[in-house]
Amino acid sequence: MDILIGLQWGDEGKGKIIDLISRDYDIIARFNGGANAGHSIYHNDKRITLKLLPSGIFYPHIKNIIGTGVVIDPLAFRAEVEQLQAALSDADLIHRILLSAKAHLVLPTYKYWDMYFEESPQYRTIGTTKNGIAPTYSNKILRQNVRVGDIFSNNFEAEVLQILTRQYLDLQALGQDMPMMQELYDDFLEACNFLKKIQIADTEIIINEALSNNKKVLAEGAQATLLDIDHGSYPYVTSSNTIASAACVSLGVSPKLIDKIYGVTKAYCTRVGNGLFPTEITGSLADELREKGGEFGSNTKRPRRVGWLDLPALKYAIMLNGVTDLVLTKADILSGMSEVPICTAYEINSETRDLTAPTSVDDSARPVWKFLDGWDIPFSKINQQAQVPKELKLFISFLEEELKIPVKYLSTGPQREELIILG
Ligand code: GTP
Repeated sequence: MDILIGLQWGDEGKGKIIDLISRDYDIIARFNGGANAGHSIYHNDKRITLKLLPSGIFYPHIKNIIGTGVVIDPLAFRAEVEQLQAALSDADLIHRILLSAKAHLVLPTYKYWDMYFEESPQYRTIGTTKNGIAPTYSNKILRQNVRVGDIFSNNFEAEVLQILTRQYLDLQALGQDMPMMQELYDDFLEACNFLKKIQIADTEIIINEALSNNKKVLAEGAQATLLDIDHGSYPYVTSSNTIASAACVSLGVSPKLIDKIYGVTKAYCTRVGNGLFPTEITGSLADELREKGGEFGSNTKRPRRVGWLDLPALKYAIMLNGVTDLVLTKADILSGMSEVPICTAYEINSETRDLTAPTSVDDSARPVWKFLDGWDIPFSKINQQAQVPKELKLFISFLEEELKIPVKYLSTGPQREELIILG
């Protein structure tokens, strides 16, 4: 099994890369997060945003599996499937999706818990998308959830009613604004009925059988390494494990069966929400980079914070994931700059560190900069190695030397054909 993950704080352009390489696979399996993520893919010149569905959904030969570690909001799932069926005029795509029976369901009250925590002054504001993802993972650990496979059980409706009523009353007692309980309950059950149209299975068995039969499986990560709940910049992280090893847990695949690990990074950095960002830039240069790179949330439209490439953080991410193949995206966005800054180390208390856990630095960490020559060529739609400007080649060689892994793909624009295979 191969794995593809983001190496920064998300939005590295994983969607485009997965879409491109996915044709060679038999199964694409999503392993973490929920409808809080969003890959953007251009399909037949239409920009399509996927939230829960794996990126192999466009290809008739690919099975798209949603693993145990993904949390599923049945309403968001139904909306996404129906929108995609309409956009692609492909009602059949529903038969190419498999849901893990063990994946946890996002209950409608969880969105209100999210709002409550985000908006109450006595709690930390993390900047979540308020989709109920963290409360779902919390209740997974508390063992209070219902799971996808439970929708077939005779007492599913009674159990949901009991959990919802309890939470509804608790939220009301805390003063949280809520719609009518009946409305939440009816909408949820209706959406769960839609799930019955989808194949629900012990997906770990399907994946392992496929691997035994030499089928190719790609595990697809959402969000990214520096947002990992354990290794990211806690508390400003997502609520799941995002690193490559989480694919093994979620999909029930032994680490022995992992082959390639693709790590995707932009030529600069962005981050949404609060939290540490040592190479952040502000002001007019930041605004320009944000506009040029279209750095606004694909679902929420929130402006992203922007900054320069951070090698200590990237080295850390490569180490955690065991990346074998690096993918560099959005190099086109830096085109036109006279020089391109890269942070090669942090200076912390007069000590220079070139590999560090993002959690171990604070605001006193000072980036050490290297300035490389910029590439000055307007280069929309370049797709051959010979067209890569020499300054960009030097930038790539510098990264390869510092990071000690090859850059396998260079993405030079949002369209499918704007990609160069280097390795
Ligand atoms: P998350 O899973 O939410 O982290 O997102 P992601 O990593 O899948 O990022 P997404 O697919 O949303 O990509 C971000 C945006 O970058 C999309 O609009 C892509 O079309 C665009 N994009 C991807 N690669 C490139 C590139 O090389 N150049 C340019 N200009 N845009 C790109």
